[in-house]
Amino acid sequence: MEIYVVDSYEALSTRAALIVAGQICAKADTVLGLATGSTPLGMYRELTEMHKKQKLDFSRVISFNLDEYLGLAPDNVQSYHYFMWENLFQHINIRPENTHIPDGLAADTDAACLQYEQALQRAGGVDLQILGIGRNGHIGFNEPSSRFTGPTHVVRLSEDTIKANARFFASVEEVPTHAITMGIKTIMQAKKILLLANGKEKAQAIKAAACGDIDPAVPASILQLHPDCIFLLDREAAQYL
Ligand code: PGA
Repeated sequence: MEIYVVDSYEALSTRAALIVAGQICAKADTVLGLATGSTPLGMYRELTEMHKKQKLDFSRVISFNLDEYLGLAPDNVQSYHYFMWENLFQHINIRPENTHIPDGLAADTDAACLQYEQALQRAGGVDLQILGIGRNGHIGFNEPSSRFTGPTHVVRLSEDTIKANARFFASVEEVPTHAITMGIKTIMQAKKILLLANGKEKAQAIKAAACGDIDPAVPASILQLHPDCIFLLDREAAQYL
């Protein structure tokens, strides 16, 4: 694991976007694993700028998102489908058919998870996976005590995650209780991983993930075993390292 610490969220976003852009320049048909949440928003803004000003070309890029809430339709403003179109996809030249996000409305969720894994394998696997991290150390929606060997699956969200994500909803009761998430096994199969974290509320999780035992109680700690993983942090998130 390599750890880089930068001064600000802006610097983190620019550096992250440069890593993604470098990956796309090296391999035009890159398979990107994408994340939602507050953390990657600045990176998505930078990538949009790079597309508009420097013609960064997403026309052959394929994307697979980490997760989606169960029960939310793609046009629901709280869904991760909506988030991705609002914050990135509509601003760049990625082809809609090349974007993949788990189906939050799937009638047969087990079949939907299997199909997602199969589509990912058909695309050749993720070249570069972007991750955020939960205050509880989760990656994707793999909550503490998730199996390290799990593929894409349905999860029940922890109370901590529901509380943390309530800020995006009118009330905590509206936060879905379940989601489909890439499993830790799926995430670990990515060729390269870039985890982003900013702010002091992530500092404990970063310390546990980077320096603690490799323990299912801290799902991100498994990243210590990944052969090509970068933690890109601001000073606040890195304060206990
Ligand atoms: P955040 O979420 O970027 O909104 O902090 C990250 C996560 O929960 O994985």
